[in-house]
Amino acid sequence: MRKRAFGPYDVSVIGLGSGEFGGKCPEGQAREFMDAYIAMGGNFIDTARVYGDFVTPRNGESEKVIGRWMADRHSRDSIFLSTKGGHPPLEHMRQGRLSREEVRGDIEESLSNLQTDHVDIYWLHRDDESRPVGDIMETLESLLENGWTKMTGVSNWRPERIQAANQYALSHGLTPLTANQPQFSLALQVRKTDPTLVTMDEKTWRMHRDTGMVCCCFSSQARGFFTKLDALGRDALPDKLKNEYLSPENIQIYERLLPLREETGLSIGALALAYLTCQPFPTFALVGASRMAHVLALKEAGNAVITPRQRDTLRVFHDGRNIYE
Ligand SMILES: NC(=O)c1ccc[n+]([C@@H]2O[C@H](COP(=O)([O-])OP(=O)(O)OC[C@H]3O[C@@H](n4cnc5c(N)ncnc54)[C@H](OP(=O)(O)O)[C@@H]3O)[C@@H](O)[C@H]2O)c1
Repeated sequence: MRKRAFGPYDVSVIGLGSGEFGGKCPEGQAREFMDAYIAMGGNFIDTARVYGDFVTPRNGESEKVIGRWMADRHSRDSIFLSTKGGHPPLEHMRQGRLSREEVRGDIEESLSNLQTDHVDIYWLHRDDESRPVGDIMETLESLLENGWTKMTGVSNWRPERIQAANQYALSHGLTPLTANQPQFSLALQVRKTDPTLVTMDEKTWRMHRDTGMVCCCFSSQARGFFTKLDALGRDALPDKLKNEYLSPENIQIYERLLPLREETGLSIGALALAYLTCQPFPTFALVGASRMAHVLALKEAGNAVITPRQRDTLRVFHDGRNIYE
């Protein structure tokens, strides 16, 4: 699997997500997924303090599954480990949880769940815009000083807040954020399922292009939208996918994928991920899987490269204009 620089690390362009590990995806299956992903050369595993807790609220189940697996495989040192904290309470998603005590408490729990003394990147899972960015950056600096994480990032933050946070860091001698984790896929999401998620938009795209800040794209396969559209046709798509992604723009993008499949010999799924991993700034695609076949398909996607011209034929248009430039 292709790798690229993520700070000082050499990291697979496709990261294995673990949102359902220990929840809908039982531990045995999660371990098989991780083994298969590592066997194909992947080294990036993304988790969070709240993952695995959505179905049966327990406590850090996804992290615990990964921690036990790394311990059994003696693989911690070969994994680029990513986790997140500061998530609002699941029943009060608009309530900020980014005080110093909350964030430090979360990372300490995560490290214990993961059976490690540090992660490679630590993300704040949401923003709390009532809290000044300076206060948040001071908290993140304290995590770096403790050696609990090598790098920091934010997820579901607006670009204005990211830029303000990095300006604060630079003018106060602190470490800027290394990366941003927005929702980003080739398919445009037409109906939001969670209003607290922040999706790639024109301003965020330009910020990445102009600064070269690392971008980790979540829900990067739009839950398999194009692959399923190709296999099943639009009428047979599951209702959830229709509701979230079926639109004239996405059908238009699918129609542009078809000649590109002929030209490149790549599958629809690999092309949709290559669109992300071949952006003009460093990108990594975080993927989810519910079957082993989904994991095995990453071998092709992880090596797929398209040219800027091919990528540009897939550019996303909305209301008749390119949304990212
Ligand atoms: N920072 C955040 O707030 C945030 C939010 C969401 C996710 N994430 C991270 O990003 C990871 C990925 O997110 P995601 O699960 O939404 O991403 P995704 O890859 O877009 O969706 C995963 C789903 O797509 C379908 N799928 C996967 N491979 C497929 C294939 N080859 N063919 C057909 N369908 C396929 C499966 O759905 P079916 O089971 O329906 O077939 C699978 O469960 C998460 O695990 C997590 O680590 C972060």
